[in-house]
Amino acid sequence: MQTVTLIPGDGIGPEITESAVRILKSAGAEIEWDIQTAGADVIEEEGTPLPERVIKSIMKNKVALKAPVTTPIGKGFRSVNVQLRKSLNLYANLRPCKNIEGIETRFNNVDIVIVRENTEDLYAGIERQIDRDSAESIKIITREASERIAEFAFEYAVKNKRKMVHSVTKANICKLTDGLFLDSVRNIAQKYPQIEYKEILVDNLCMQLVQKPEKFDIMVLPNLYGDIVSDLCAGLIGGLGIAQGANIGKEYAVFEPVHGSAPDIKGQNKANPTALLLSAIEMLKYIDQKDTANKIEKALYKTIKEKINLTPDLGGTSTTTDYTKTIISNL
Ligand code: NAI
Repeated sequence: MQTVTLIPGDGIGPEITESAVRILKSAGAEIEWDIQTAGADVIEEEGTPLPERVIKSIMKNKVALKAPVTTPIGKGFRSVNVQLRKSLNLYANLRPCKNIEGIETRFNNVDIVIVRENTEDLYAGIERQIDRDSAESIKIITREASERIAEFAFEYAVKNKRKMVHSVTKANICKLTDGLFLDSVRNIAQKYPQIEYKEILVDNLCMQLVQKPEKFDIMVLPNLYGDIVSDLCAGLIGGLGIAQGANIGKEYAVFEPVHGSAPDIKGQNKANPTALLLSAIEMLKYIDQKDTANKIEKALYKTIKEKINLTPDLGGTSTTTDYTKTIISNL
């Protein structure tokens, strides 16, 4: 039995968490959940959306499954997600994007893995109001973090038998910062002659992704481009409801979907739990419960392929509850 920190988040977080936990339990996952609330709902009582107990729990258990947490725009606490990634040094944000049979999209040959640097860039949070009508933000890029994420991308390529890595920057304009990122990836690429290495500017990448996504395999990007491009790639395979993710460091790993707390559909029993479930499947593989992971994966793909009881974002009319029941009956 492995203890795993569970953060149900807010917005649609608790609904999709309940679904994923039920499916994992039905599949026989050997997990004891250490439930840690965080986000908008705990601020009143604890004065912060990210109480210290949440970090301590992950430090103790080493692994967490996390649902989304709301970040207020323009004011208040910066971001639970950014804070969590920083506190635990979860430097790599891994976001695989692959077509799922049964979900019709413009393309049927997308199989991309996004490796996003997770600790610096404009997310370092160094912002300043100059006067009432102007503000500035500082973009931090270091060789250490850039080489570390490049190494992660190439190691992932080798372990998962992938063929190509693209570095993605805007080094023609941000010559020093993105230039440093690019130079760092180039250095690391030399150590992996068996993996084809290519470079592309982020604007050109966006255009090519929506025309020929099959040209791309693994991409390594600084934080902000990684954030934006991963939503684009989620769109290529059918939307945020099915886009999984993981934040990985040397000591800890937090598995979470790409999407946010979706306040527009909160409490309506129509959120798609697939992205969280796919993240949980990766978590099961990570903690060496591969058979359970494969069992859930099969039941999930069968459910989607048969198109019975899909949630509205996938073109169905089902509730989260019925979709969950169908997956469980397919286990
Ligand atoms: P969002 O990802 O929450 O929603 C964007 C659109 O996708 C909405 O129309 C929503 O209904 C839909 N959607 C998202 N997940 C879905 C699901 N599982 N099933 C069906 N439809 C789904 O992005 P938004 O609205 O920009 O952000 C809402 C809040 O979430 C913000 O406070 C943001 O900061 C936060 N956020 C948190 C993240 C995290 O905890 N890791 C990641 C991204 C955003």
